[in-house]
Amino acid sequence: MNPDQTFQLRPIGLVHSPFKECKDAPIQPAMAQGAVGSIRVFDEFAAGLKDLAGFDRIWLLFWFHRAGTVRMSVTPFLDSQERGLFATRAPARPNPIGLSHVRLLAVEGSLLRVADLDLLDGTPLLDIKPYVHRFDCAEAIRSGWLDTVSITSPTADDRFAKTEEKKGNTV
Ligand SMILES: C[S@@+](CC[C@H](N)C(=O)[O-])C[C@H]1O[C@@H](n2cnc3c(N)ncnc32)[C@H](O)[C@@H]1O
Repeated sequence: MNPDQTFQLRPIGLVHSPFKECKDAPIQPAMAQGAVGSIRVFDEFAAGLKDLAGFDRIWLLFWFHRAGTVRMSVTPFLDSQERGLFATRAPARPNPIGLSHVRLLAVEGSLLRVADLDLLDGTPLLDIKPYVHRFDCAEAIRSGWLDTVSITSPTADDRFAKTEEKKGNTV
């Protein structure tokens, strides 16, 4: 395979979230304290939502559209030490794809009502998959450097935001 190969992605919908800026958003769904929002799935994909209502949780794959510089070494929100990017969930990724499992409250046509959001308003959604306890909940004793930190704040800051956002400009 050519390592310079690129792939085209297109959003299947848009996230509507109460969080307008990186610094206000929860770090993960587990820290989102039920933050409620919605997802508008574009009409051409709405038929794919059939049977989704039977799931309590769904995986959202999305594009960190407001992420700043890509870095292979980052200081994660929950740590004061630099860590390898791929040992973190930081948005500063070469392919800025995020992964969150959120609570599915309702399916209303092409609108999904969701809770436990850690995404910004306007985030482009790339895919939805059902969260399946039997598949997705594996026993894992070790969580690397995360085992050594405590959760001091459930909310992010702007360290991974685009420069415009850090300066307080609208993005
Ligand atoms: C640490 S990431 C985790 C996201 C996801 N749960 C994951 O693990 O891939 C969550 C933070 O990313 C930032 N964020 C959320 N949506 C974003 C977006 N669309 N563009 C850039 N940054 C975003 C917010 O600061 C939020 O607190």
